[in-house]
Amino acid sequence: KSKRKAIIAGNWKMNKTPKEAKELLNAITPLVKDAGCEVIACVPYVDLATALEATEGTNVKIGAENCHWAESGAFTGEISTGMLKEMGVEYVVLGHSERRQYFGETDETVNKRTKAALAAGLKPIVCVGELLWERECDITEEVIARQIKLDLFNVTEEELKNVVIAYEPVWAIGTGKTATADQAEEVCSFIRATIAKLYNQAAADAVTIQYGGSMNDGNADELLSKTNVDGGLIGGASLVAEKFAAIVKAAS
Ligand code: G3P
Repeated sequence: KSKRKAIIAGNWKMNKTPKEAKELLNAITPLVKDAGCEVIACVPYVDLATALEATEGTNVKIGAENCHWAESGAFTGEISTGMLKEMGVEYVVLGHSERRQYFGETDETVNKRTKAALAAGLKPIVCVGELLWERECDITEEVIARQIKLDLFNVTEEELKNVVIAYEPVWAIGTGKTATADQAEEVCSFIRATIAKLYNQAAADAVTIQYGGSMNDGNADELLSKTNVDGGLIGGASLVAEKFAAIVKAAS
Protein backbone atom coordinates (compact mmCIF):
# COMPACT_ATOMS: atom_id res chain seq x y z
CA LYS A 1 0.00 0.00 0.00
CA SER A 2 1.14 3.56 -0.70
CA LYS A 3 2.66 5.52 2.16
CA ARG A 4 1.10 8.73 0.95
CA LYS A 5 -2.41 9.84 1.96
CA ALA A 6 -4.70 8.62 -0.80
CA ILE A 7 -6.85 10.95 -2.88
CA ILE A 8 -10.05 9.63 -4.39
CA ALA A 9 -11.59 12.02 -6.90
CA GLY A 10 -14.76 11.60 -8.89
CA ASN A 11 -14.69 12.99 -12.41
CA TRP A 12 -18.33 13.40 -13.29
CA LYS A 13 -17.58 14.40 -16.91
CA MET A 14 -20.72 15.72 -18.67
CA ASN A 15 -23.16 14.19 -16.21
CA LYS A 16 -25.65 15.55 -13.69
CA THR A 17 -27.69 18.73 -13.77
CA PRO A 18 -27.38 21.04 -10.75
CA LYS A 19 -30.43 19.43 -9.17
CA GLU A 20 -29.04 15.94 -9.74
CA ALA A 21 -25.64 17.05 -8.47
CA LYS A 22 -27.19 18.14 -5.20
CA GLU A 23 -28.97 14.80 -4.83
CA LEU A 24 -25.83 12.80 -5.56
CA LEU A 25 -23.67 14.82 -3.18
CA ASN A 26 -26.30 14.60 -0.47
CA ALA A 27 -26.13 10.84 -0.88
CA ILE A 28 -22.31 10.73 -0.96
CA THR A 29 -21.41 13.03 1.95
CA PRO A 30 -22.80 10.94 4.83
CA LEU A 31 -21.28 7.77 3.36
CA VAL A 32 -17.75 9.18 3.23
CA LYS A 33 -17.72 11.35 6.33
CA ASP A 34 -15.22 9.15 8.16
CA ALA A 35 -12.92 8.69 5.16
CA GLY A 36 -9.24 8.20 5.87
CA CYS A 37 -8.38 9.63 2.48
CA GLU A 38 -9.04 12.89 0.70
CA VAL A 39 -12.35 12.92 -1.18
CA ILE A 40 -13.03 15.17 -4.16
CA ALA A 41 -15.87 15.56 -6.62
CA CYS A 42 -14.95 17.22 -9.92
CA VAL A 43 -18.16 18.42 -11.48
CA PRO A 44 -19.41 20.34 -14.54
CA TYR A 45 -19.03 24.14 -14.28
CA VAL A 46 -22.76 24.75 -13.91
CA ASP A 47 -22.91 22.35 -10.95
CA LEU A 48 -20.09 24.04 -9.02
CA ALA A 49 -22.20 26.48 -6.99
CA THR A 50 -24.67 23.80 -5.93
CA ALA A 51 -21.87 21.32 -5.25
CA LEU A 52 -19.98 23.78 -3.05
CA GLU A 53 -23.15 24.48 -1.10
CA ALA A 54 -24.03 20.80 -0.73
CA THR A 55 -20.57 19.93 0.59
CA GLU A 56 -20.09 22.93 2.88
CA GLY A 57 -18.85 21.78 6.28
CA THR A 58 -18.15 18.25 5.01
CA ASN A 59 -14.87 16.54 4.12
CA VAL A 60 -15.75 16.43 0.41
CA LYS A 61 -13.83 18.93 -1.70
CA ILE A 62 -14.94 20.27 -5.04
CA GLY A 63 -13.04 20.45 -8.30
CA ALA A 64 -13.74 21.72 -11.80
CA GLU A 65 -13.08 19.69 -14.96
CA ASN A 66 -10.97 22.29 -16.80
CA CYS A 67 -9.94 25.94 -16.73
CA HIS A 68 -8.43 28.43 -19.14
CA TRP A 69 -4.96 29.93 -18.73
CA ALA A 70 -5.82 33.57 -19.39
CA GLU A 71 -7.03 35.72 -16.51
CA SER A 72 -9.86 37.14 -18.58
CA GLY A 73 -10.57 38.24 -22.12
CA ALA A 74 -12.07 37.25 -25.43
CA PHE A 75 -12.33 33.48 -24.94
CA THR A 76 -15.99 32.73 -25.51
CA GLY A 77 -17.17 29.70 -23.58
CA GLU A 78 -14.09 29.44 -21.35
CA ILE A 79 -13.74 29.71 -17.56
CA SER A 80 -10.79 31.37 -15.80
CA THR A 81 -8.89 30.20 -12.77
CA GLY A 82 -9.90 33.37 -10.92
CA MET A 83 -13.59 32.56 -11.43
CA LEU A 84 -13.10 29.10 -9.96
CA LYS A 85 -10.94 30.31 -7.11
CA GLU A 86 -13.42 32.98 -6.05
CA MET A 87 -16.18 30.38 -5.88
CA GLY A 88 -14.16 28.26 -3.47
CA VAL A 89 -13.16 25.53 -5.91
CA GLU A 90 -9.98 23.76 -4.79
CA TYR A 91 -9.07 21.30 -7.56
CA VAL A 92 -9.19 21.24 -11.34
CA VAL A 93 -8.82 18.29 -13.72
CA LEU A 94 -6.49 19.16 -16.61
CA GLY A 95 -5.42 17.34 -19.73
CA HIS A 96 -8.03 14.62 -19.49
CA SER A 97 -7.75 12.31 -22.49
CA GLU A 98 -11.28 13.21 -23.57
CA ARG A 99 -10.16 16.83 -23.87
CA ARG A 100 -7.03 15.76 -25.72
CA GLN A 101 -9.00 13.48 -28.08
CA TYR A 102 -12.11 15.56 -28.77
CA PHE A 103 -11.20 19.17 -28.02
CA GLY A 104 -7.71 19.63 -29.40
CA GLU A 105 -5.97 19.77 -26.03
CA THR A 106 -2.20 19.47 -26.42
CA ASP A 107 0.65 19.14 -23.95
CA GLU A 108 1.38 22.80 -24.56
CA THR A 109 -2.11 23.93 -23.55
CA VAL A 110 -2.17 21.48 -20.62
CA ASN A 111 1.06 23.08 -19.44
CA LYS A 112 -0.39 26.60 -19.80
CA ARG A 113 -3.50 25.61 -17.86
CA THR A 114 -1.43 23.88 -15.19
CA LYS A 115 0.79 26.92 -14.67
CA ALA A 116 -2.23 29.23 -14.53
CA ALA A 117 -4.11 26.99 -12.09
CA LEU A 118 -1.11 26.84 -9.77
CA ALA A 119 -0.57 30.59 -9.95
CA ALA A 120 -4.20 31.08 -8.91
CA GLY A 121 -3.87 28.70 -5.97
CA LEU A 122 -5.86 25.85 -7.51
CA LYS A 123 -4.61 22.28 -7.31
CA PRO A 124 -4.43 20.68 -10.76
CA ILE A 125 -5.06 16.99 -11.32
CA VAL A 126 -2.96 16.51 -14.44
CA CYS A 127 -3.97 13.49 -16.52
CA VAL A 128 -1.57 11.47 -18.64
CA GLY A 129 -1.96 8.13 -20.38
CA GLU A 130 -1.16 6.15 -23.49
CA LEU A 131 -3.46 5.07 -26.31
CA LEU A 132 -3.98 1.37 -26.94
CA TRP A 133 -1.85 1.33 -30.09
CA GLU A 134 0.94 3.17 -28.29
CA ARG A 135 0.94 0.41 -25.66
CA GLU A 136 0.88 -2.21 -28.42
CA CYS A 137 3.85 -0.50 -30.07
CA ASP A 138 5.62 -0.67 -26.72
CA ILE A 139 6.11 3.08 -26.39
CA THR A 140 4.06 3.60 -23.20
CA GLU A 141 7.04 4.92 -21.26
CA GLU A 142 8.10 7.33 -24.02
CA VAL A 143 4.55 8.68 -24.26
CA ILE A 144 4.19 9.11 -20.51
CA ALA A 145 7.63 10.66 -20.05
CA ARG A 146 6.92 13.15 -22.84
CA GLN A 147 3.55 14.13 -21.32
CA ILE A 148 5.01 14.52 -17.83
CA LYS A 149 7.93 16.61 -19.07
CA LEU A 150 5.81 18.87 -21.26
CA ASP A 151 2.78 19.18 -18.99
CA LEU A 152 4.96 20.08 -16.00
CA PHE A 153 7.35 22.32 -17.93
CA ASN A 154 8.36 25.27 -15.72
CA VAL A 155 6.38 23.97 -12.75
CA THR A 156 8.63 24.62 -9.76
CA GLU A 157 9.40 22.11 -7.04
CA GLU A 158 7.34 24.24 -4.64
CA GLU A 159 4.38 24.26 -7.05
CA LEU A 160 4.66 20.52 -7.60
CA LYS A 161 3.50 20.03 -4.00
CA ASN A 162 0.04 21.14 -5.16
CA VAL A 163 -0.04 18.93 -8.26
CA VAL A 164 -1.78 15.58 -8.42
CA ILE A 165 -0.97 13.32 -11.35
CA ALA A 166 -3.55 10.91 -12.71
CA TYR A 167 -2.38 7.98 -14.83
CA GLU A 168 -5.27 7.09 -17.09
CA PRO A 169 -4.49 4.59 -19.85
CA VAL A 170 -6.85 5.73 -22.59
CA TRP A 171 -7.83 2.15 -23.48
CA ALA A 172 -9.14 1.65 -19.93
CA ILE A 173 -11.38 4.72 -19.78
CA GLY A 174 -15.09 3.99 -19.85
CA THR A 175 -14.41 0.65 -21.51
CA GLY A 176 -14.75 -1.59 -18.48
CA LYS A 177 -11.20 -2.74 -19.28
CA THR A 178 -9.20 -1.92 -16.18
CA ALA A 179 -5.42 -1.99 -16.26
CA THR A 180 -4.24 -4.82 -14.05
CA ALA A 181 -2.88 -3.71 -10.71
CA ASP A 182 0.59 -4.62 -11.96
CA GLN A 183 0.20 -2.56 -15.13
CA ALA A 184 -1.02 0.42 -13.08
CA GLU A 185 1.84 0.04 -10.62
CA GLU A 186 4.40 -0.24 -13.41
CA VAL A 187 3.41 3.05 -15.02
CA CYS A 188 2.76 4.92 -11.73
CA SER A 189 6.20 3.88 -10.57
CA PHE A 190 7.66 5.01 -13.91
CA ILE A 191 5.94 8.39 -13.47
CA ARG A 192 7.49 8.71 -10.02
CA ALA A 193 10.93 7.88 -11.42
CA THR A 194 10.45 10.49 -14.14
CA ILE A 195 9.54 13.10 -11.50
CA ALA A 196 12.63 12.09 -9.52
CA LYS A 197 14.77 12.74 -12.60
CA LEU A 198 13.12 16.07 -13.35
CA TYR A 199 13.06 17.28 -9.74
CA ASN A 200 14.52 15.04 -7.04
CA GLN A 201 13.66 11.92 -5.04
CA ALA A 202 11.96 13.80 -2.18
CA ALA A 203 9.65 15.60 -4.61
CA ALA A 204 8.89 12.30 -6.33
CA ASP A 205 8.19 10.55 -3.03
CA ALA A 206 5.72 13.27 -2.04
CA VAL A 207 3.70 13.54 -5.24
CA THR A 208 0.29 11.86 -5.37
CA ILE A 209 -0.22 9.63 -8.41
CA GLN A 210 -3.73 8.36 -9.02
CA TYR A 211 -4.87 5.59 -11.32
CA GLY A 212 -7.95 6.15 -13.48
CA GLY A 213 -9.76 3.92 -15.96
CA SER A 214 -12.71 1.73 -15.02
CA MET A 215 -11.77 1.76 -11.35
CA ASN A 216 -14.75 0.54 -9.36
CA ASP A 217 -15.85 -0.93 -6.05
CA GLY A 218 -14.77 -4.39 -7.23
CA ASN A 219 -11.19 -3.66 -8.28
CA ALA A 220 -10.22 -0.64 -6.13
CA ASP A 221 -8.80 -2.72 -3.31
CA GLU A 222 -6.29 -4.46 -5.53
CA LEU A 223 -5.26 -1.36 -7.47
CA LEU A 224 -4.85 0.64 -4.27
CA SER A 225 -2.77 -2.12 -2.69
CA LYS A 226 0.13 -1.06 -4.93
CA THR A 227 2.97 1.05 -3.55
CA ASN A 228 2.84 3.75 -6.21
CA VAL A 229 -0.92 3.97 -6.71
CA ASP A 230 -1.96 6.75 -4.34
CA GLY A 231 -5.62 6.97 -5.17
CA GLY A 232 -8.02 7.02 -8.06
CA LEU A 233 -9.71 9.29 -10.54
CA ILE A 234 -13.11 7.73 -10.96
CA GLY A 235 -15.51 8.26 -13.84
CA GLY A 236 -18.58 6.04 -14.09
CA ALA A 237 -18.44 4.65 -10.56
CA SER A 238 -18.31 8.16 -9.07
CA LEU A 239 -21.87 8.74 -10.26
CA VAL A 240 -23.25 6.06 -7.93
CA ALA A 241 -22.99 7.08 -4.28
CA GLU A 242 -22.55 3.56 -2.87
CA LYS A 243 -19.90 2.59 -5.42
CA PHE A 244 -17.94 5.81 -4.92
CA ALA A 245 -18.15 5.41 -1.13
CA ALA A 246 -16.86 1.84 -1.40
CA ILE A 247 -13.82 3.04 -3.35
CA VAL A 248 -13.22 5.75 -0.72
CA LYS A 249 -13.41 3.03 1.92
CA ALA A 250 -10.89 0.90 0.06
CA ALA A 251 -8.48 3.87 0.03
CA SER A 252 -8.97 4.75 3.70
O1 G3P B 1 -11.19 10.66 -15.23
C1 G3P B 1 -11.77 9.45 -14.91
C2 G3P B 1 -11.84 8.54 -16.02
O2 G3P B 1 -11.48 8.98 -17.26
C3 G3P B 1 -12.14 7.14 -15.85
O3 G3P B 1 -13.43 6.95 -16.29
O4 G3P B 1 -15.56 5.78 -16.35
O5 G3P B 1 -13.44 4.55 -16.82
O6 G3P B 1 -13.93 5.31 -14.51
P1 G3P B 1 -14.13 5.55 -15.99
